[in-house]
Amino acid sequence: MAALNGAVENGQPERKVPPLPRPLRGLEVKYTKIFINNEWHESTSGKKFPTYNPSTLEKICDIEEGDKPDVDNAVEAAKAAFQRGSPWRQVDALSRGRLLHKLADLLERDRVTLATLETMDTGKPFLQAYFIDLEGCIKTLRYYAGWADKIQGRTIPVDDNFVCFTRHEPMGVCGAITPWNFPLLMLVWKMAPALCCGNTLVIKPAEQTPLTSLYIGSLIKEVGFPPGVVNIVPGYGPTAGAAISTHHSIDKIAFTGSTKVGKLIKEAASKSNLKRVTLELGGKNPCIVCADADLDLAVECAHQGVFFNQGQCCTAASRVFVEEQIYPEFVKRSVEYAKKRLVGDPFDARTEQGPQIDQNQFDKILELIESGKKEGAKLECGGLAIEDRGLFIKPTVFSEVTDNMRIAKEEIFGPVQPIMKFKSIEEVIRRANSTEYGLTAAVFTKNLDRALTLASALQSGTVWINCYNALYAQAPFGGFKMSGNGRELGEYALAEYTEVKTVTIKLSQKSP
Ligand code: NAI
Ligand code: MG
Repeated sequence: MAALNGAVENGQPERKVPPLPRPLRGLEVKYTKIFINNEWHESTSGKKFPTYNPSTLEKICDIEEGDKPDVDNAVEAAKAAFQRGSPWRQVDALSRGRLLHKLADLLERDRVTLATLETMDTGKPFLQAYFIDLEGCIKTLRYYAGWADKIQGRTIPVDDNFVCFTRHEPMGVCGAITPWNFPLLMLVWKMAPALCCGNTLVIKPAEQTPLTSLYIGSLIKEVGFPPGVVNIVPGYGPTAGAAISTHHSIDKIAFTGSTKVGKLIKEAASKSNLKRVTLELGGKNPCIVCADADLDLAVECAHQGVFFNQGQCCTAASRVFVEEQIYPEFVKRSVEYAKKRLVGDPFDARTEQGPQIDQNQFDKILELIESGKKEGAKLECGGLAIEDRGLFIKPTVFSEVTDNMRIAKEEIFGPVQPIMKFKSIEEVIRRANSTEYGLTAAVFTKNLDRALTLASALQSGTVWINCYNALYAQAPFGGFKMSGNGRELGEYALAEYTEVKTVTIKLSQKSP
């Protein structure tokens, strides 16, 4: 085998491996204010709020705290930018795509800065921020850049004396409320399709993680989007967030976060102006491992599937169902993986797992771990916080988990892997589907018939077969049941950011 970065072996030419990107140490945070009309503003109330680095528990900086008056200003700006004849409405479709490509170029240019900010604010490992979050953002922007001039209506055959066609028009002002687990990626999943369709935006990032969203404000301005097209109001959920969901001049809202808040948003939308709502909420995702599966692959995917991003994923593989013949071996190997997982400083290139986002989440996860112990699941490893280390939790594996236990029912959103046993396919289908959620599911088997039977029977927006977290900008993502409404990504998301207008014309001449 040719040596990596080293001497020539077996006469093979030396293979150059690019060096890993390095985070920017001591990076100064430049953007902490409210972004409206391509300008930075202080909050109307004069209030600020802190954002913390969850791996050190130190305050990074204070951020201007937006509330209803700031949201009102942002909406006014977005409304004006959407007016007929405005500079934005005069940007032709192809040029909208070019603006999105230019934004992607700037994300590529500033990729290390953005990944560093994301790691400071969330505690996620820097290399994951760089290679996964930023990669996803750039690809999503480029994917929707390509769509901007291809959003077409149809010509519809009706009566011969009539011509009927549809126009797919932008909706207007779109609100985006984003979570803290993938702050920049979830923003781009909303912003890219919204802008490609010609809408304007008011964005509220999660209060725990506003830094990368605000940085995007500076890039929006640099790209040359007209003022008011993208506005960013950092602040808290019940204040700034609620001001968006209840606003009468916001036409659509896209939200990623908890099911509880998703319900509040839909309720607020129906009590205000019936704005369109797309929701991407929680999951309690089954990962089904059949006895004939490639065991190495299944163990590794199930491990990464639940522990990735500190377990803070709506897609987390948090109900692993394993066929009984291979159950002991699967548990043994999963425990080996979990024990080897490196937890620590997210800026260290070797680190696989950083801290949880905040004290609330940390307490919730430990409480659920305690419930697992009390309800009789077998704790195989972990089960505790890492002493004297703030918000770090040991990778935890539970075996002998049964469906009635809280760890098998509730979204844990932490580094906890509950492993259950099953006997037959019919049984596992029934158990996998007996949840109010329906976001993702995964199946590991070499048998095509089983794979496709499960793919059709599982009630979830995504089914992965022999893989996990295989997400693409081109492929729609979203939930069945209480995991949400609507779809993000892919061509399907265009429908969530456009209104269909039917134009019917009567011809004056009757056809002979
Ligand atoms: P959350 O749903 O409260 O936060 C998500 C966003 O909603 C934040 O921007 C927040 O400021 C905003 N928000 C909160 N209350 C609001 C309101 N009344 N009106 C409008 N916006 C509001 O989620 P939280 O409390 O941070 O986490 C709780 C649980 O939610 C987690 O343990 C996890 O189970 C789930 N969650 C799921 C996510 C996903 O990716 N689907 C992301 C984050 C959390
Ligand atoms: Mg933070």
